[in-house]
Amino acid sequence: MNDNGKQKKYHTITYGCQMNENDTERLAGQLRALGYEEADRPADADVILINTCCVRESAEKKIHGKIGELKRLKAGNPNLIIGVAGCMAQKDRDKLFKRAPHIDFVLGTHNIHQLGGIIAEIGQARGRVLAVWDQAERLAPGVPTIRKNKIAAWLPIMYGCNNFCTYCIVPYVRGRERSRPLEEVVGEAAELAAQGFREITLLGQNVNSYGKDEAGHADFADLLAAVDGVEGIARIRYMTSHPRDMNAKVIDTIRRSRHVCEHFHLPIQAGSDAVLQAMNRGYTAAAYRELVAEIRAAVPGASLTTDIIVGFPGETDEMFADTLALVEEVRFDAAYTFLYSQRSGTPAATMAGQIPLAVKKERLKRLMDLQNDISLDINRGLVGTETEVLVEGESKNDANKMMGRTRANKIVIWDRTGNEQTGDLVTVTIETAQTWVLKGKLA
Ligand code: 5AD
Ligand code: SF4
Repeated sequence: MNDNGKQKKYHTITYGCQMNENDTERLAGQLRALGYEEADRPADADVILINTCCVRESAEKKIHGKIGELKRLKAGNPNLIIGVAGCMAQKDRDKLFKRAPHIDFVLGTHNIHQLGGIIAEIGQARGRVLAVWDQAERLAPGVPTIRKNKIAAWLPIMYGCNNFCTYCIVPYVRGRERSRPLEEVVGEAAELAAQGFREITLLGQNVNSYGKDEAGHADFADLLAAVDGVEGIARIRYMTSHPRDMNAKVIDTIRRSRHVCEHFHLPIQAGSDAVLQAMNRGYTAAAYRELVAEIRAAVPGASLTTDIIVGFPGETDEMFADTLALVEEVRFDAAYTFLYSQRSGTPAATMAGQIPLAVKKERLKRLMDLQNDISLDINRGLVGTETEVLVEGESKNDANKMMGRTRANKIVIWDRTGNEQTGDLVTVTIETAQTWVLKGKLA
């Protein structure tokens, strides 16, 4: 109960990647354990938690705007507790209090498990709490997790990143790589299966280096094979792969697996060797092309997606043309494309040859136009085929329609028949294709 004798409630707002989504689930789990229930609106909450991202400046701007908005709620309800967690909290620490004095606590990426204690502390003393450790003291403590999605679950297999791509802030805010023991991950996968989850996404900043932080540790292929052996899970995905560390053993394990989806997300970042080298990516465009060929030979019909940054410092028109040429040649199913964003503290932020915003935007548009044509073309090729879809639920925009995903991770929408239940694997005949969505009817 809160001070007004009502049920205590929390509201979470999450920015950024799947790892953040999963952290939010673990934050929510702790609030549940304290007797809080979820509020749909921030205005109905006693605790509001913003889980933040700082990978690009655009995310940070949005988050500062959101934090500013909450000031009004705090003015109307002095008992409201507002907390900022995640990557921006880790990076900016007590600077966040100075910028927004209505924040009650700042929780770093290594301090997720401390939320329960902090809420209790603030409840008693009403002081500000800064909990930001510089590094993790121990691995994934047994924190309760509340998952909103009842079909697909995120399962972290490792934390942190050792790669130090020169544009990226992640290694600075998430620390060095720490892999969870294989038995712990497999045990959690079995628990998820028992709870009725059908799909598991193994999470890590660079899943291909799973286990490399400890001598004698199982590697990523071993882990995939072990999770594949868990009964009851229909689909296994993983995020994110690093092209440099993707190897024949992993590809072969995926080929022989029962449940690992034939979808490879391999961020290329740029198609020019000079840019790739300046990014410290550790592979060439030719090596990437070879990897794609190897995957396509081993896993026919595999879908391939990527991340690309345009306007990295020093990127000339010719270098950018290399990216376009690679995109045209490889034909990704989809690409997540980003304007390079200067992140202070990273090597690229102070490199010579920063690209003007107008140039970056023009390049991004050309890249997106090209990729959208390719995505649409690939999707059109699926019209008339029957595809396995995992039913996720009602379509967001239309209650008469249902939504799910193919093994290639493409979104499919069809008219509800009443015979499909959330969590079912159904077959859908594809009738029309758009860039990001397929439409069809239940076969
Ligand atoms: N600017 C733009 N994009 C970035 N990414 C990471 N750091 C930056 C940055 N400074 C992109 C990369 C990565 C994805 C998650 O975000 O493409 O793969
Ligand atoms: Fe950032 Fe590179 Fe690590 Fe990915 S692999 S989180 S881009 S440093």
